[in-house]
Amino acid sequence: MCFLSRTPISPSNSNLERRWLSRLLTISNDFYNHPSNINYAARDSYREDQGVWSLASIDNITTDGVKTKADVNVIGFRDNRGFLKTPKVPFTPGTPVFAAETQFIKSTIGIRDSGAYIGLLDGYDLKVRLPIENLVKKHVSVLAKTGTGKSYLTGVIMEELAENRVPAVLIDPHGEYFTLQSPNSKPSEMRFMPRFGIEPKSYRSAIQLFGFRMGREIKLNSRLSAEEITHMIPVKIPASQKALVYSAVRNLEGSEYTLSDVIDEVTKSKSQTKWSLISSLESLLKTGLFSTKPTTPEELVQEGKISIIDLKEARPEIQQMVVLKLTEELFSARKRGRIPAWVLG
Ligand SMILES: Nc1ncnc2c1ncn2[C@@H]1O[C@H](COP(=O)(O)OP(=O)(O)OP(=O)(O)O)[C@@H](O)[C@H]1O
Ligand SMILES: [Mg+2]
Repeated sequence: MCFLSRTPISPSNSNLERRWLSRLLTISNDFYNHPSNINYAARDSYREDQGVWSLASIDNITTDGVKTKADVNVIGFRDNRGFLKTPKVPFTPGTPVFAAETQFIKSTIGIRDSGAYIGLLDGYDLKVRLPIENLVKKHVSVLAKTGTGKSYLTGVIMEELAENRVPAVLIDPHGEYFTLQSPNSKPSEMRFMPRFGIEPKSYRSAIQLFGFRMGREIKLNSRLSAEEITHMIPVKIPASQKALVYSAVRNLEGSEYTLSDVIDEVTKSKSQTKWSLISSLESLLKTGLFSTKPTTPEELVQEGKISIIDLKEARPEIQQMVVLKLTEELFSARKRGRIPAWVLG
């Protein structure tokens, strides 16, 4: 991390001397080529940004044996209202570049002292914490190349949610998270733990495992809506068959019907297209996934509990049905206030 100064600071007469890294040599053409940047530069007075230091991350350092060159990615600065802004005026070549102080990085990025601890900022002793309320209320994506630690980080976030007693439901298509139940015993990972100020820990008491090969068996409510039924049938069905499903469900509405009742209702129809529909509905029934005693949102979302839905070894269409039905029920239960705020992973 480094910062760039807008003011004509001379590193030799400032207390920043020891943090002095370099001078900015050139600015990527992209900055000038980006039309919005050119507009901003033309419209905004240069004085506005004077005296503001911008934070940048060093992406890449190369050397040709004589000169060492670093590419930096400008993150921005906090304006006087505390909003993170990117400079509207291009930096001028010759601008001094300094190594950024921990406190400056913290305030510019907005790292707080509490929250989900996910690791140390590379090269610093700065603990990176994500605000818990953002994890619950907003969307978070973990994006990176394959094999670079996305699942591991997701596991860390789940552990931190458990520490903070925030309920979470984790959909696990590859069956890789049940290991959260046991403390990490891999020597290759344990040797780094003191540096991060952590110790191996088991989350067995916080984890509830649901699935098809271990843990509690997943069951879906057999009272399916017509829309759910048509979505769950793996093949695309013609409009005439869809109409049969809707009409059968309409006849049953108001009662505690099951998927078998829908099949009986479709059987009563005089339509000739009913037979292929009945066969599709029977194959849904044969999955054994539907029950009058289904897995409930209240069971899945509990304070201090992480519910892992292990879908390994379930066929893709079963995985799809489970995710479709459970997420719908969970969101509807939350809207009605039946369950507390929770995180879906
Ligand atoms: N922060 C970390 N500390 C130690 N080991 C890690 C860390 N992050 C990942 N690993 C290890 O690196 C390997 C790959 O990690 P992981 O499976 O999380 O990657 P991924 O991005 O989810 O991969 P994929 O794209 O295949 O799903 C695993 O063996 C994991 O234990
Ligand atoms: Mg992964």
